[in-house]
Amino acid sequence: MKITIIGTGNIGSAIALGLAKGSMFVAPDITCTDMSEQALDNVRKPGCDFVLSMNNIEAVKDADIIILAVKPWKVESVVNEIKTAIDYEKQIVVSIAAGVTFKDLALYFAKDDDILPAIFRVIPNTAIAVCSSMTFISAYRASDEQSALVSRIFRELGNVMLVEERLMAAGTSLASSGIAFALRYIRAAIEGGVELGFYPQEAQSIVVNTVKGAIDLLIENKSNPEAEIDKVTTPGGITIRGLNEMEVSGFTASVIRGLKAST
Ligand SMILES: NC(=O)c1ccc[n+]([C@@H]2O[C@H](COP(=O)([O-])OP(=O)(O)OC[C@H]3O[C@@H](n4cnc5c(N)ncnc54)[C@H](OP(=O)(O)O)[C@@H]3O)[C@@H](O)[C@H]2O)c1
Repeated sequence: MKITIIGTGNIGSAIALGLAKGSMFVAPDITCTDMSEQALDNVRKPGCDFVLSMNNIEAVKDADIIILAVKPWKVESVVNEIKTAIDYEKQIVVSIAAGVTFKDLALYFAKDDDILPAIFRVIPNTAIAVCSSMTFISAYRASDEQSALVSRIFRELGNVMLVEERLMAAGTSLASSGIAFALRYIRAAIEGGVELGFYPQEAQSIVVNTVKGAIDLLIENKSNPEAEIDKVTTPGGITIRGLNEMEVSGFTASVIRGLKAST
């Protein structure tokens, strides 16, 4: 199976490098295109013999899957460039572009007849660079087999959730912007740790490992956060005092307001 990634920037290069480490593709099965040699340098790594190209039309011809990893405002011109070279019956198109809807994509890919390719919208987060993305996938005119294939491919790069398109914006807020929100908690806790007497590097190590422990508990125990919180909160103890003080300062409300504001 061959895959072509158009746009070798942050996300395109992370996908290529991650897939080459996984079990479904070897680097020569992956073609990366971009407009500049400088961008292609993102995937010139020792032991990674990707096919590199600056010719999108040639690059899509042999691909089973074509990933559009350019900025949203470039998607239309890229589709116009490649659509005559794509076999809509055989090739699968995956758009990574945030905010470009199936309605937009169907319009861009439309030819004279009614036929369209199977199209997927995929929204990863930046943790895709370390194969730990929370990725949302939505399908349009795709078979169950094609959906299963695209899910399998992105599962090589972290976790995936197949959702209806109407949930893509919410997923983007919760998982893509969510990386920044989670990091903001971590930054705040580090600052608190320094005020409590630790050096910044010590505080960072403590907070990162504590957050990792919290995540491991949820994953390992398959439990609800509140159940794990109950185990820490001795009646009349220091943890519940800290939690209540955070709530007085609007912790939960702030998180929910931030999530809603970023959809
Ligand atoms: N970053 C995130 O957290 C994130 C998360 C989810 C989804 N996304 C989506 O992922 C997409 C890519 O984002 P990114 O951060 O990876 O952008 P990026 O770093 O700018 O990468 C896009 C690359 O595509 C190149 N390009 C432009 N026109 C092209 C063409 N006609 N043919 C081939 N390559 C072309 C760009 O070159 P130039 O710079 O020269 O234009 C650039 O190197 C966006 O649509 C974004 O919405 C990003």
